[in-house]
Amino acid sequence: MTPTDPTASARVAAEWLRRVEAEYTSAAITAEFVLWLIRLGASPDLIRDGLRIVDDELEHASLSHAVARAAGVEARPQLVQERLGLQRTEGQPLLVDAALQGVDIFCLGETVAVPLFVAMRDTCTVAIARTALDRIVRDEVRHRDFGWTLLEWLTDTQGDAMRTLVGDALPGMLRGVRASYGQSDYGERLDEPTEADARWGLMPSARYEEILLRTYERDYVPRFARVGIDARAAWAQE
Ligand SMILES: [Fe+2]
Ligand SMILES: [Fe+2]
Repeated sequence: MTPTDPTASARVAAEWLRRVEAEYTSAAITAEFVLWLIRLGASPDLIRDGLRIVDDELEHASLSHAVARAAGVEARPQLVQERLGLQRTEGQPLLVDAALQGVDIFCLGETVAVPLFVAMRDTCTVAIARTALDRIVRDEVRHRDFGWTLLEWLTDTQGDAMRTLVGDALPGMLRGVRASYGQSDYGERLDEPTEADARWGLMPSARYEEILLRTYERDYVPRFARVGIDARAAWAQE
């Protein structure tokens, strides 16, 4: 921290601690997802891309923890074991669980994560937070691409059955992503961040919704169309 850095508010501290928890959870989820890919006999390239993401997410958790500590956090992150992984749906083939959860987590989640983190970084001037966001932004691009490569593999190998499966589940998934990113900053709704908070890499909640809408137009619709899935119809079904 330099003398010109604004003091971290309680909101900044809470938000970066929450990010530690989210990044660590992403590591756990991706680790389990990689095991599913191994069980499904996915290509070694795809499996290795997934392993690299696990490593990235652990690094994001460490970098975020450094920011939280600089912001005055002394509490340990709350890590709930039950949430550190993926759930199987009883009686459902592994391939179906992997397809639905993979599309949700990587195609939807990691794709919107790229512009979200770019926007947080735009106003961020506190060096330690900026370092974390620089690394996160760089890696998220690869995490997004992993999702679309995964979907391509699924549709190439499973054909129309996969298009139908994902297409039918898409309205529900889009509803979920809108609920978590569209209305609030995917955390507890506190006061809007101040200008000083923005320098620590926080963003006003209204921007989340605007970025999600832009991502839908620029990424979801064309990228799903490339594999023969109509995201526009799914979005309209809400
Ligand atoms: Fe991450
Ligand atoms: Fe990620």
